[in-house]
Amino acid sequence: MDLEGKTALVTGGSGDIGGAIARALAQAGADVAISYVGHKQGAAATIDAVRAAGKRSLAVQLDQCDPVSIDAAVDTVVGGLGRVDILVNNAAWNIGIPFSDLAALTADVWDRIMDTNLRGPYLLARAFAPHLRKHGSGRIVNIASVGGLYPRSSSIAYSASKAGLIHLTRCLAVALAPDISVNCVAPGLVEGTRMAQRLPDEVVQTARRQAVLERVASAQDIAAQVVTFCRADSVTGQVLVIDGGVPGAMH
Ligand SMILES: NC(=O)c1ccc[n+]([C@@H]2O[C@H](COP(=O)([O-])OP(=O)(O)OC[C@H]3O[C@@H](n4cnc5c(N)ncnc54)[C@H](OP(=O)(O)O)[C@@H]3O)[C@@H](O)[C@H]2O)c1
Repeated sequence: MDLEGKTALVTGGSGDIGGAIARALAQAGADVAISYVGHKQGAAATIDAVRAAGKRSLAVQLDQCDPVSIDAAVDTVVGGLGRVDILVNNAAWNIGIPFSDLAALTADVWDRIMDTNLRGPYLLARAFAPHLRKHGSGRIVNIASVGGLYPRSSSIAYSASKAGLIHLTRCLAVALAPDISVNCVAPGLVEGTRMAQRLPDEVVQTARRQAVLERVASAQDIAAQVVTFCRADSVTGQVLVIDGGVPGAMH
């Protein structure tokens, strides 16, 4: 699919990876809306970059834990840009809790992580599906994590949420075919991001040590793969790991 003239929503576009994805989609020819929660400055920087690439942009404030806000966000994006061809479920929330500290992972923390990282992407896919279907070439790209493939990440709840998002990718690929493809990028440590700063140090050191390419992912690596999935006409239900090549995550 040629992305020129297409329109995308990147959730969490105020963040490090979401901002890079929005910029890459704009450079590939798409108009790009983004969502954010409270980081207005990050959202404004991304919008400015999309506009500097000659593309239309808007930001919508969205707490995706709230189903009512999701419906309102759909109206804002479709009303503002006229159509939506691509949904990138990038937004997520994490907090560093060592796996062994079960007491610290309370029901409230568990629910916040699940609602943001798993239920939110499902509700967004459900709400946008009728719009993505309209032109027969819809795309959904979910941003998961290698934490969803093996048991090491910022917390047990984060790993479980990303494992759920990976399987949701496959379920939606079946449910939404043939009009919408659904794929997933699973990054390892993405150096220089706010989220990486919240990882336990042991997780960071292990990721660096185990990467056979002797480098971990950059936000630009993730963004380039999102663009590749959006351009692909015959790929759905796939998960691509970007982690510098950790043997344990090679399947
Ligand atoms: N960074 C890494 O090392 C790494 C590794 C593996 C996977 N990932 C995945 O990559 C994606 C982007 O991560 P990142 O590093 O760019 O994180 P980030 O800089 O912390 O950005 C997270 C984004 O999610 C938004 N967000 C947080 N809670 C939300 C909620 N309740 N509703 C809607 N939006 C919400 C934030 O909005 P505000 O900015 O307004 O707060 C922000 O735009 C995530 O899915 C993450 O799990 C990251």
